[in-house]
Amino acid sequence: MSTLTIFSTAAQPAQREAGATSAPQGRTIPAVLGADLEVPVKGGKLVGYANLDYAASAPCLEPVSAAVTAALPAYSSVHRGAGYASQLTTARYEQARHTVRAFAGARPDDAVIFTRNTTDATNLLARCLPEGTTVVVFDTEHHASLLPWKQTVRLAPPAFPGEAVRAADAALAGIDGPKLLVVTAASNVTGELWPIAALAHIAHRHGARILVDAAQLVPHRPINLTALDLDYVAFSGHKLYAPFGAGVLLGRRDWLADGEPYLKGGGAVRAVGDAGEGTDWHNDPEPRHEAGTPNVLGAIALAAACDALTATGWTALVREEERLIARLRSNLASIAGVRELSLWGPDHPRVGIVSFIVDGYSAREVAEVLSGEYGIGVRDGKFCAHPFVRHLLGTADGGCEDDTASAVRASIGIGTTQEHVDRLVEALRDLLAR
Ligand SMILES: Cc1ncc(COP(=O)(O)O)c(C=O)c1O
Repeated sequence: MSTLTIFSTAAQPAQREAGATSAPQGRTIPAVLGADLEVPVKGGKLVGYANLDYAASAPCLEPVSAAVTAALPAYSSVHRGAGYASQLTTARYEQARHTVRAFAGARPDDAVIFTRNTTDATNLLARCLPEGTTVVVFDTEHHASLLPWKQTVRLAPPAFPGEAVRAADAALAGIDGPKLLVVTAASNVTGELWPIAALAHIAHRHGARILVDAAQLVPHRPINLTALDLDYVAFSGHKLYAPFGAGVLLGRRDWLADGEPYLKGGGAVRAVGDAGEGTDWHNDPEPRHEAGTPNVLGAIALAAACDALTATGWTALVREEERLIARLRSNLASIAGVRELSLWGPDHPRVGIVSFIVDGYSAREVAEVLSGEYGIGVRDGKFCAHPFVRHLLGTADGGCEDDTASAVRASIGIGTTQEHVDRLVEALRDLLAR
């Protein structure tokens, strides 16, 4: 397995230029697959791909690919096979659960349920809420966290972080019965970090629980359910450098043990009676909600990504990301005609995501020029956060097909180089000079 030693003399030119050698010796950041991908641009030339779309799906880490490759020769059924390969695969699947639990700092008795992705995880929890639960959610949420709930109180985008806590406090105080606060840890539109510890505290003061959508947090920052006192956390493997179709829901067992099985079928039952007789469903949340043959390789990949990030260490990862995103944002700010979108202002802490609009061009036009002429991949649109993007742009819009109220999003992570972010800035300067 090849690794990229970013703080040795083997560092990439962009990293050497930035003087990253002052970081601890020997800390290595794993390489991503496809770092040398070349893509065609206008005129037929091939250029190195500048992937600035990590917030949608991050590339695969080499150790993730290696873990999947290593598991494949013994790949077999899980849980119900007596054969050696089946036992080995079962052990790897269950080990993946432990690894993900440790990565997220979950409590020893928390459930760790493998899902398809974050959307699947939030929908699973939605089906398990006690009857009559009211869900408090901000309009800033990704649709995965905004839409699955039956009964919601929606809160307007708060003007500052303290206002988020105050608004949640007031909303939760007015609700009787079971309640759940749902909040994203890092916005997929602006990258801004939300005050999840303070929100968890407020939720608990009102006897509510909190679900944190950590889809955009975990690729960039550590999370710890126990230390933050979070009840539930959801995230996706494909944003965490593990594009093998798995996600996870972690959290308190009781609602999950009582909730209707998410998928009904083999594995979720202890016994099935004859016609007219009952079905004895598992009470353990994991088998109860993971019926059918699970995505074993997805779980192994997700766990391998967790291991790789933990082994790398957050200090090295965060330092490099912050250097690149600060450079990108300050260069974007220097271009007349480019406006960054932000809820809480330019100085609020954020992960490696920046959304912006360009004077005189629709987001789609910008994204197409960046791809077709410069080999840069960004995302354009409303990022499955329609109410939030409307709010940030101060517009009304007609939904997915309406390109007049959209933005461009650049997002970075492991494998992003200084050349990539500089190429984006130069391309935007060129575009605006036309
Ligand atoms: C904050 C956030 N939550 C949830 C999701 C949904 O993730 P998935 O598509 O993996 O279900 C996304 C995806 O972009 C996201 O950014």
